[in-house]
Parts: sequence; C-alpha cells; structure tokens
Amino acid sequence: MSRVYNFSAGPAVLPEEVLREAADEMLDYRGTGMSVMEMSHRSKAFAGIIGEAEADIRELMGIPDNYKVLFLQGGASQQFAMIPMNLMKNRVADYIVTGQWAKKAYQEAQKYGKANKIASSEDRTFSYIPDCSDLPVSPDADYVYICENNTIYGTKFRTLPDTKGKPLVADVSSCFLSEPVDVTKYGLIYGGVQKNIGPAGVVIVIIREDLITDDVLPGTPTMLQYKTHADAGSLYNTPPAYGIYICGKVFKWLKAQGGLQAMKEKNEKKAAILYSYLDQSRLFKGTVRPEDRSLMNVPFVTGDKDLDAKFVEEAKKAGLENLKGHRTVGGMRASIYNAMPCEGVQALVEFMAEFEKENL
Ligand SMILES: Cc1ncc(COP(=O)(O)O)c(C=O)c1O
Repeated sequence: MSRVYNFSAGPAVLPEEVLREAADEMLDYRGTGMSVMEMSHRSKAFAGIIGEAEADIRELMGIPDNYKVLFLQGGASQQFAMIPMNLMKNRVADYIVTGQWAKKAYQEAQKYGKANKIASSEDRTFSYIPDCSDLPVSPDADYVYICENNTIYGTKFRTLPDTKGKPLVADVSSCFLSEPVDVTKYGLIYGGVQKNIGPAGVVIVIIREDLITDDVLPGTPTMLQYKTHADAGSLYNTPPAYGIYICGKVFKWLKAQGGLQAMKEKNEKKAAILYSYLDQSRLFKGTVRPEDRSLMNVPFVTGDKDLDAKFVEEAKKAGLENLKGHRTVGGMRASIYNAMPCEGVQALVEFMAEFEKENL
C-alpha cells in the first residue's frame, strides 16, 4: 500500500489514523457484529455515535447552549436555498460576494427575495477580501452572508464583517475546525464536511436557536426546515449515518491533536512554508493579496499555461496529487487541510524548488 500526498480541494485528505480505525471497525463495530453502515440509525450504538459527535464538536468549537448542531444532507449547495427559505422573513438579505460559492448562494437567494450584493471582490478576480468595516447593510436585512474561506481563490476573512446587528451567516466549508472560532459572532455557521472533516454527504449546520422557527417561506419542504431537524435531533429521517461516524472520529482526532488552537498553529506553520517559498520564487507566484491569504487553499501560477500543466503532471508522478487549480481559474492550487501533514507541504516545496531549477 502506498499513499500519496493528496492536495485535493475536496473531497480531501483525512487523517490516516481515522481511516485505519474505521477499517478495523468495518465488519464489527465494537461487538455489535455489524458495520456502522448496516445498523439502524435508531439503535443504541448509533445514538452513542451521533451523541458523542455532537458533544465533541461542541467542545472543540465552544458552541454555546443556545445554538443547535444539525447533521444534514444535500451538500453545502443545498444550504444556498435552505438559508433564505428559513431566514428571509422580510425577504431581504445582504450578500458579500468573494468568489464562486458566495456568488452561487447570492444567485440562489434571489429566487426567494431581494438579495443585495453589498460588497464584492470580483473586480480583481476575487483575489482579495473587500473592506467590510462599514458596509451599506440594509435596515431590513434578515441576515448578512459570507463565504468565510474561498476554496477556489484562496482568500479568507481575517476580520468578520460588521453586520450592524444583523445575524451573520457563514459558509465555512473549507475552513471548518481549522482554527478557534467565536460562535457567538454568528447566527448560522455551516459547511460541507468533505474538505476538513469527513466524507461527502454530511453538512453540519450550527444555528442560533432564535433563528429556528415555523415562520419559513410558504412551500418550504418539511425536509428543508431547520426546525424539522432541530426538533428531531438530526434523526427526523435516516441521516448520513456512516459519514457522521467518520466525522465523529475526526473530532476525536482533533481533540487528541490539542484542539483548534493547536490546529491553528500547525496550519499556520504549514501555510508559512508554502507562502514563504512562493514569496521568494522566481518561477511561481501566489495569486492572493498577502493579508487575505487562506491557511487552507493556496493557489499559485507560473504565468505560462503549458508550464503549469507540466508541473501538475510531474508532481503527480512524484506522488503529489491533485494540484491542478479549479477548472474556472487554471494554474495550481494546493489544499493543505488539517489532515495534510507538514511533511506533505515540505515535499511539495522541495519538488517546486527542483522544478524551478530545471525550468527557469
Ligand atoms: C466554500 C464552498 N461552499 C460550497 C461548496 C459546495 O459544496 P457541495 O459540493 O457540498 O454542495 C464548496 C465546494 O467545493 C465550497 O468550497
């Protein structure tokens, strides 16, 4: 067996210890005589799995008691609709558009009410985070929406926007559990887990209780109401049980690593290795304004499409996989999520230095 360094933006690398543990428990989960995939979601064993998963994420993120944690399905993209359907009481919401995912959410919200684009960084190909200290927040906005870490462009909000008292809704799909977070600053935090936490198929929503109501837009399906899932402890219908089980293992792995402060330090160290190489390279260059750089997704280019393609191909041969940039922007992107070891980033930088020597 040989494992590569997988720089995929998602689905992405998971901790090897977690995968091994899951393999060990595959046929017989702790004496139940069956796999987690085969057991009832109403069983005692699964109640333990989902209960511990919730308790562990609450502990990791310091989630206050007046927030619910929901394990849902439908991908992060389903939240683009579910958020306005549940929160747009006045049918007005403000969106900060810092990339394709925020733009998709903004466009989807237009189906349900008046979605205002109150800031954007599209003028410079989303390579920075706009100043959000004094935005024209609509007086009747039901919420202000951001995509906190922009997976495709490699930018991250270092300072949250001043929402002028409106609930902040954040898509954290690509920075989930990568650093400590003050949950009280948000009305709703959500993310698909397939980047930093687990297998595709689970979306985690952390939502302040006062935002969970019956007062949703007419026609909102039962399955798309937060209240349905909050009232049923995420067991209204069959949840993505195996995915939740793996997420739970990753939460335990994160706790064993020292929690989110320790992860932040590790992630900063990893990102610094790559960014400091990029900053002195004569061949490669980072595409993001330095103060807005993501710790998770690092896009870079040579400026020559053919050379970019050659790099991606040769890196793959060297066991450094999935370095091609998003299909809409080209170039390269290294996603260095929690589970990417420091050695992986070092191996990448060594390979880049070698490639630079040979191709400059
Ligand atoms: C920040 C962000 N939001 C949303 C999505 C969409 O996620 P999904 O494919 O789970 O709908 C992605 C996917 O890559 C993402 O990076």
